[in-house]
Amino acid sequence: MRIACVQAKFGREIVSKYCKEVRELGFRLEDLISESLGLQRDYLRKVLGDQGQHMAINYYPPCPEPEMTYGLPGHTDPNALTILLQDLQVSGLQVLKDGKWLAVKPHPDAFVINIGDQLQALSNGIYMSVWHRAVVNSDKPRISVASFLCPQNDALLSVPPPLVADGSPAVYRDFTYAEYYGKFWSRNLDQEHCLELFKNPQH
Ligand code: OGA
Ligand code: NI
Repeated sequence: MRIACVQAKFGREIVSKYCKEVRELGFRLEDLISESLGLQRDYLRKVLGDQGQHMAINYYPPCPEPEMTYGLPGHTDPNALTILLQDLQVSGLQVLKDGKWLAVKPHPDAFVINIGDQLQALSNGIYMSVWHRAVVNSDKPRISVASFLCPQNDALLSVPPPLVADGSPAVYRDFTYAEYYGKFWSRNLDQEHCLELFKNPQH
């Protein structure tokens, strides 16, 4: 009992530190993405507001007939940025590139960073929210830890004026994250890209 208590406390401290560190990493990436778009360093973070953070510990049990199912069907992440810690022993993540699903090999000491739908919208489509899925394994379970940085609910996702200053059109209409999130979950996960529903008519 005592050991369990000590371990629980230890685990809580580790998870809490992990969450904080991952958040800082996400913020640094958002700042760098902002700069890479020619925006002020803090532009994106200001738009995203007081970002929510969710963590999913995905456990994919082994499946005797792995080709019959998915751990997670193909989807894009609806949030701003996702930081994924993969299982080093068992791979399973795949990304869609040029119409083909490619396996993402787990790499020691590396995270997988997914651009989410909101960074695709805010970058006017310059950054792409990648389609990805998880497949299962016939004999080994797999665990992954995904940390999602999410815009605050009433954040207004609107194309940054400098990105349309040269006359290039805004690909998406303005929306709040709450509106987007509602739409995202009211459809099937593996349908067309949810951002398609927010495209301006000329696109
Ligand atoms: C997710 C996700 C992939 C994985 O949780 O959104 O894409 O490898 N996970 O578990
Ligand atoms: Ni995902």
